[in-house]
Amino acid sequence: MTDLSDAIARRRTFAIISHPDAGKTTLTEKLLLFGGAIQLAGAVRARGEQRRARSDWMAIERERGISVTASVMSFEHDGLSFNLLDTPGHEDFSEDTYRTLTAVDSAVMVLDAAKGIETQTRKLFEVCRLRDVPIITFINKVDREARDTFDLLDEIEKTLALDVSPVTWPIGMGRDLNGVYDLSADQVLLFEQTRGDHIPEGLDMPLDDPRLDGLVGEAAAAQLRNEAELVRGACPPFSLEAYRAGHLTPVFFGSALRNFGVRELLGGIGRLAPPPRPQPAAPRLVDPLEPAVSGFVFKVQANMDPNHRDRIAFFRLCSGRFRRGMKLKHPRSGKTMAVVNPVFFLARDRELAEEAFPGDILGIPNHGALRIGDTLSEGEDLKFTGIPSFAPELLRRIRLDDPLKAKQLKKALEDLAEEGVSQLFKPLNGSTWIVGVVGQLQFDVIANRIEAEYNLKAGFEEAPYETARWIDADDKALLRKFADANPSAMAEDRDGALVFLARNAWTLSRAQQDFPDLRFLATREQH
Ligand code: G4P
Repeated sequence: MTDLSDAIARRRTFAIISHPDAGKTTLTEKLLLFGGAIQLAGAVRARGEQRRARSDWMAIERERGISVTASVMSFEHDGLSFNLLDTPGHEDFSEDTYRTLTAVDSAVMVLDAAKGIETQTRKLFEVCRLRDVPIITFINKVDREARDTFDLLDEIEKTLALDVSPVTWPIGMGRDLNGVYDLSADQVLLFEQTRGDHIPEGLDMPLDDPRLDGLVGEAAAAQLRNEAELVRGACPPFSLEAYRAGHLTPVFFGSALRNFGVRELLGGIGRLAPPPRPQPAAPRLVDPLEPAVSGFVFKVQANMDPNHRDRIAFFRLCSGRFRRGMKLKHPRSGKTMAVVNPVFFLARDRELAEEAFPGDILGIPNHGALRIGDTLSEGEDLKFTGIPSFAPELLRRIRLDDPLKAKQLKKALEDLAEEGVSQLFKPLNGSTWIVGVVGQLQFDVIANRIEAEYNLKAGFEEAPYETARWIDADDKALLRKFADANPSAMAEDRDGALVFLARNAWTLSRAQQDFPDLRFLATREQH
């Protein structure tokens, strides 16, 4: 194997999707612990510190106790390179999350064993399905009273229309939790009470080992043997092909908090999850094995460090072997840029990236040249596709306390829009900017950041619009006609694309009826 194909085969780039509170943060931390990326005693305490350190630049994270920013964590384990992309869990931040999912090759879906599939799990699952992202399911919190295991599996199968194939099986739940049984390896792993970062050795034995009856009790052992037989009869056997095509999910059980079942999950990701896949682009699909370097920006974050006004583009490498200092073409502007200071995001740090391979995520510091959706290539005019902007569901007018600072405000709003935090519309009738977001909480985030990072006091007031649609038509005269007919509802986005600001669903549907040849788009590919 060449260096490139070997490096690709060793990479696993994945994200965790879940409903808030299912245990994504805890599981992330434990995957890093089991992966050897963090060693600190008392990982939970470390998480608190890490959270505080990260949120220094954003008081709102601290106030609300939620993680607003997505980040990337890379670690090496068992000869493999894992890139874990953290997706913001709060339901308000779906747009950022959607885009993060464009940069992964697979996902781990975390469910709370007492709750099963929840609203946000479902939404995120749908995004994965759109892109055929393969999903491993982790049923968490088996150390607490939970729903019946068969019921949970049934729910996944029915609500997500997905075959389920358990890889491990819980031996009891809650107070009666004794361990998990690895169905594929025929190994019983006994549960051991642990705390912090202690990794239990576990005691492994096959299901028919007579010691089992003594260890977990005859009744529990008999129940497990019975259930194992039932599962083998009732669930389809695991098929790597069906999983990688997104039709089947392997299921693991465990407790992230108690460090239980996490090692099996990590092993499962290594064994089953796909290495970097070909990525859709125009005019052609890009194979990771191609020697020429290419990739795309799926996230931009400004002001990560308040002391340095840096702006980092999160770049997913899709093909070729990247070397620091390489000159890459930026097809959107036609310019060439030398990538001299790219960084890798390690669990706790950043590190200068000397070389990188497909599946890796590079942080590229820049001064605003790179935007979400941008492609970089070694010369070819490529454009990776499927990185959408969503029509905002909430629109507000921005109000500035000191009108003399309008210019600074414009800069702040543009920076935040570039990060994908919000969208910015300039009404054609000359009135003040309209800011659009997908979730209410983002208005607080924006006001807070404008104050903290740009020293401006601004607020939001109601705007007489409920929704926005990008409009387009083959016949440009028709666009003009529509704009003339709706002068107070027309705006431009940051790229000068025409946007219709609709007062309500009724005006939108009326406009669609009146102008059947016009396209009203709820998503727009980034330009
Ligand atoms: P999230 O990122 O998906 O929102 O979830 P997070 O990991 O923050 O976990 C949510 C709550 O569930 C936390 O409790 C966490 O300790 C708990 N939890 C996570 N995994 C398990 C598990 O396997 N078993 C049990 N019993 N609980 C689990 P909290 O009290 O809200 O927060 P904290 O004070 O522990 O940080």
